[in-house]
Amino acid sequence: MHITMVGTGYVGLVTGTCLANTGNDVTCLDVDPRKIDLLNSGGVPIYEPGLEEMVKRNARAGRLHFTTDKAKAYQSAEVIFVCVGTPSDERGHADLKYVLAAAADIGDAIEKAPGATGGSIQERRSKIIVVKSTVPVGTNAKVKQAIAARTNKTFRMASNPEFLKEGAAINDFNKPDRVVIGCEDKGTGDRLRDLYEPFVRQGNPIFVMDIPSAEMVKYAANAMLATKISFINEIANLCESYGADVDEVRRGMCSDKRIGNQFLYPGLGYGGSCFPKDVLACISMGDQSEFTTHLLKAVHQVNQNQRSQFMKKLDRHFGGGSLAGKTVAVWGIAFKPGTDDIREAPSITLMQHLISRGANVVAYDPVAVDVCKKLPGVGDKIAYADEPYAALEGAHALVICTDWDEFRHPDFDVMRQKMADPVVFDGRNLYRLDAMREAGFVYHSVGRDAVGAGEKVKA
Ligand SMILES: NC(=O)c1ccc[n+]([C@@H]2O[C@H](COP(=O)([O-])OP(=O)(O)OC[C@H]3O[C@@H](n4cnc5c(N)ncnc54)[C@H](O)[C@@H]3O)[C@@H](O)[C@H]2O)c1
Repeated sequence: MHITMVGTGYVGLVTGTCLANTGNDVTCLDVDPRKIDLLNSGGVPIYEPGLEEMVKRNARAGRLHFTTDKAKAYQSAEVIFVCVGTPSDERGHADLKYVLAAAADIGDAIEKAPGATGGSIQERRSKIIVVKSTVPVGTNAKVKQAIAARTNKTFRMASNPEFLKEGAAINDFNKPDRVVIGCEDKGTGDRLRDLYEPFVRQGNPIFVMDIPSAEMVKYAANAMLATKISFINEIANLCESYGADVDEVRRGMCSDKRIGNQFLYPGLGYGGSCFPKDVLACISMGDQSEFTTHLLKAVHQVNQNQRSQFMKKLDRHFGGGSLAGKTVAVWGIAFKPGTDDIREAPSITLMQHLISRGANVVAYDPVAVDVCKKLPGVGDKIAYADEPYAALEGAHALVICTDWDEFRHPDFDVMRQKMADPVVFDGRNLYRLDAMREAGFVYHSVGRDAVGAGEKVKA
């Protein structure tokens, strides 16, 4: 099948590459010429495990192309996947400007495409425009209208929300728990089902449904996952107030099969490019229909509070005054391990806070440093270390923001020797309390008692 991916970001590049890998001819289109130039010269603009090798292999095989030429990309495609960003606008609504701009481009390009009556079977079949971006219910209808306003050619609409996780995106796309297809007619559903068959050979389901339901599935799934995170964070805060240990509570609670143990880890709250904006978009969908989403408003609020709670612990430790002359090391910038994505990462909020209090911040992340350096207002105000221990040199505290595997078993002796004060604020509960006590650290984590706090920390 001839496919065009509109938007060559985390979703467009990964899904386009995986679709090329099953033999389709895929063109990745982007309006950012730097991304396309980099891809055409053998580079990959994002970090995603396994992606670079797969991109290169499929490009070499002639199945994967990169272009900024909209007319060419749209006219040759049988199926067009719209994978552009849908960030929050200033009111928390999903901003559809990129989606609607792509729709306008598609309408203009297909109007000028060769007639639908001549040529090959592929050329005679109506194009399918698939919205893969996460969008509020009713967006497909707007896209359809925007395209139809520019062309008399027939085309079909479909919604195909994407569920991949950054850091495990290739595996998630190749072995999805499920595929959701929203469409208006059986033929479109069958053509998309056919495209996805190679990915569900182990029997995972393809659900074909109406378009509004498919659009809603993605928001419902992300809202549920965000709710789980805010729920366990609220329980963690209760644990802290009453001297319980959230890790023990979690174990006891999650052994109930009805609850399960996935996605119930306390921490700094959810970040990334999806949960924050998708929860806000659900809230604003409710507001626009005069239905108040009480639960999701609370989920968002708990998430905001979680970061401030953690910052309060830091402030308390440093006596609430200026941090001028203090060095704070930060381990982990990415919003989660396995990615260089720092959108809405808790680390950024924390580092902004530390900078505003006058601290010298030295950060380490295995893959997200280059992206962080470009972040306005933060990137050039911090120093970067090449490896975790180097960040600790002379530090008065370490703040752990991302649970990269390499932070799980550090050498505590080396850490203590490097640091000016052996103080750790662990936003990911990576270490056992008894191990930290034994190693002589002041240790603050989430939903557990502080270790060594209030005691003199350096002999
Ligand atoms: N990142 C994820 O983990 C993930 C997972 C599932 C779903 N989603 C959803 O997928 C969508 C895309 O997310 P992303 O993280 O890949 O975004 P991204 O910001 O990484 O990529 C979007 C790309 O679209 C390009 N673009 C913008 N307008 C364009 C246009 N008119 N024509 C061509 N290209 C254009 C941008 O230059 C950019 O490269 C969002 O709606 C998001 O919510 C993301």
